[in-house]
Amino acid sequence: MEVERVQDIASLSKETIPEEFIRSSNEQPALTTVCGTVLEVPVIDLSDPDEEELVKAIVEASSNWGMFQVVNHGIPDETIRKLKEVGQAFFELPQEEKEAYAKPPGSQTIEGYGTKLQKEVQGKRGWVDHLFNKIWPPSQINYQFWPKNPPSYRETNEEYAKHMHGVASKLFRCLSLGLGLEGDEMKAALGGDDLVYLLKINYYPPCPRPDLALGVPAHTDMSTLTILVPNDVQGLQACRDDHWYDVEYIPNALVVHIGDQIEIVSNGKYKSVLHRTTVNKERTRISWPVFLEPPSNLKIGPHPKLINEANPPKFESKLYSEYHASKLNKTPPS
Ligand code: SIN
Ligand code: FE2
Repeated sequence: MEVERVQDIASLSKETIPEEFIRSSNEQPALTTVCGTVLEVPVIDLSDPDEEELVKAIVEASSNWGMFQVVNHGIPDETIRKLKEVGQAFFELPQEEKEAYAKPPGSQTIEGYGTKLQKEVQGKRGWVDHLFNKIWPPSQINYQFWPKNPPSYRETNEEYAKHMHGVASKLFRCLSLGLGLEGDEMKAALGGDDLVYLLKINYYPPCPRPDLALGVPAHTDMSTLTILVPNDVQGLQACRDDHWYDVEYIPNALVVHIGDQIEIVSNGKYKSVLHRTTVNKERTRISWPVFLEPPSNLKIGPHPKLINEANPPKFESKLYSEYHASKLNKTPPS
């Protein structure tokens, strides 16, 4: 089956875009974005030696925003620069070289190079191609989906994964303490060392009608935390008080999204954030989210220590696989 990659469609689209990418009026960025206001989501200094202050800041951001940006996170700028360089280099390879890593048709795993094939609600498509790779723990890695070209792809992503593990552990600890739990209890409730770090590279080619199309449509992230770096092309938007805003771009910061499973474990204290992405007329936007995914056979519900007569559970406990399947039935994946 011939697959239509958005990168190919983009190279053929000079002034117009195919109908299937044109959003309805209640989604078109030009009609639904609040202009002139860039959302300054909380910026958190992860190197703050005062843990109590750090926990307070993360609790505030996770309860009131569901997203924040992290600076002084300990990942060397050079590691992030290389991550971006090798990811971009992969997407700039000739099409047939990329197709060698295509997600096999009908495969159960999400890994590999691809373009979302199932159409969304109202038959619309996002202006984006992607590559999914599991990058942590080492036992979960399937190197057949990791590009051999550029040659430093493997080393660079392994290096990033190690650093990512340190950042994630610190964030989980703070989120846990912020609920009055022991430092390790939040992560344990979400899979502990069995959490899988799934890297996605989103490749959004230039789009002649960025006013009409979206990269990724509105969604909340399904897993626990998403930790991402974008390139310097604006495109991430968050919904606040029912309005869409561009999120400020801060070089070398990590953008953190609270996902649905953290909202559930916290019994609603922390909120998952509704977000989407727009595309650019002249420039390619690329982003590198890492989703921290619980094992599919893990049952996740409000943490028992947070539940009592005064605080009944606000969410049903479900296997992560069940949650995943029921959300995909309601809203297509992003
Ligand atoms: C996403 O939320 O799926 C993509 C975020 C981004 O590209 O910044
Ligand atoms: Fe997302």
